This record gives sequence, C-alpha cells and structure tokens, in this order.
Amino acid sequence: MPEFIPVLGKNEIQNIVAQIARKISSDYQGQELILIGVLKGAFIFLSDLVRHLSIPVKVDFVGVSSYGSGTTSSGIIRLTRKVEIDLTNKDVLVIEDIVDTGLTLTYIVDYLKTFSPKTVKVCALLDKRERRSQTIKIDYACHVVSEGFLVGYGLDYNEDYRELPEVYHLKF
Ligand code: IMP
Ligand code: MG
Repeated sequence: MPEFIPVLGKNEIQNIVAQIARKISSDYQGQELILIGVLKGAFIFLSDLVRHLSIPVKVDFVGVSSYGSGTTSSGIIRLTRKVEIDLTNKDVLVIEDIVDTGLTLTYIVDYLKTFSPKTVKVCALLDKRERRSQTIKIDYACHVVSEGFLVGYGLDYNEDYRELPEVYHLKF
C-alpha cells in the first residue's frame, strides 16, 4: 500500500478556492467569461469554484488524455472531448487541476486559440514545477508544490482516489 501524506486539508482548499474566486470575480467583472474545465481532474475544483464566484459565467469542458497509467506523462496528448460553446471573441479561462510538465496546458491553450477567443487565461489548483518543460503562464495559480505525485480532490492515480476530499502526496 502506498503512503498518503496530507498536502491540503478541506479547510485549506476551501480558503484557496474562495480567495481565487474573489480575484476572478473582480478581474472579469462585466465581461463574458467562459470557464473551460479540463476533464477529468478538474471536475471537483471547477464545481467548487463556480459556487464561490460572484459573476455570471458559462461552463464547458475539454477532455484530454496524456497519462497512460502510472505517474509519468506519455507525452502524447489526445483530445477526448471537444469544446461545444462558441468561444469567438469571448474571455476564456481554462480550469485545470494540476500543471506538471505543462504539455497538456500548452496543447489545450493552442487548441482553444483556434476558436478566436478575445483572451485565454489559465487557472490551476496545483502548480507542480519540478518537471516543467514548457514556458506557460499560469494566471491564477492556487498552490505551488515542488514535487511528488498527488491524489484526491479530483486528482487520480490510475483512476483511483478522485473522490478523496483532501489532497495527498502518494508515496510509493
Ligand atoms: P502535464 O501535461 O505534464 O502538465 O500534466 C498535466 C496533467 O497530468 C494534469 O491535467 C493531470 O491530470 C495529470 N497530472 C500531473 N501531475 C499529476 C499528479 O501529481 N497527480 C495526478 N495527476 C497528475
Ligand atoms: Mg488534468
């Protein structure tokens, strides 16, 4: 059995989400904001985030798969769900669970830009910098972690542990 080392507790997560939601609500006041959740990892973060916002938004999802199984990215990214809302001239904010190498986010941002949005920015719950290989700006980074493989609050290891309400470092 791997060891589960606590990284973010329930209260800490709620404080982080509330704080980032306040910032987003103020930055996008009066604009037409579309949130694009990255499936599947961002499903819990996104659903908590929208309930803390004080501005109206539209929500859509993109699906990508990059990780085969295990803890290292295959590096090959595949789009498994396309965006459905018209993004032309809209303000788009990508909601991601965790940024590791940055390959997934770079792919998604490039994909979304093909729909001619007004702006595309990025919000990630976890910013893991150890293996970053792409230069990518995370406009709203909630919590920086240096290393390790994290699970819980939407994040999985081989599709397990997404339902855990806290974030843990999985130690093998
Ligand atoms: P990247 O393309 O290397 O930046 O990896 C990003 C994607 O890999 C994220 O959307 C996650 O779904 C997944 N990922 C990266 N690191 C972790 C982790 O520590 N735990 C769970 N999933 C991760
Ligand atoms: Mg993800």
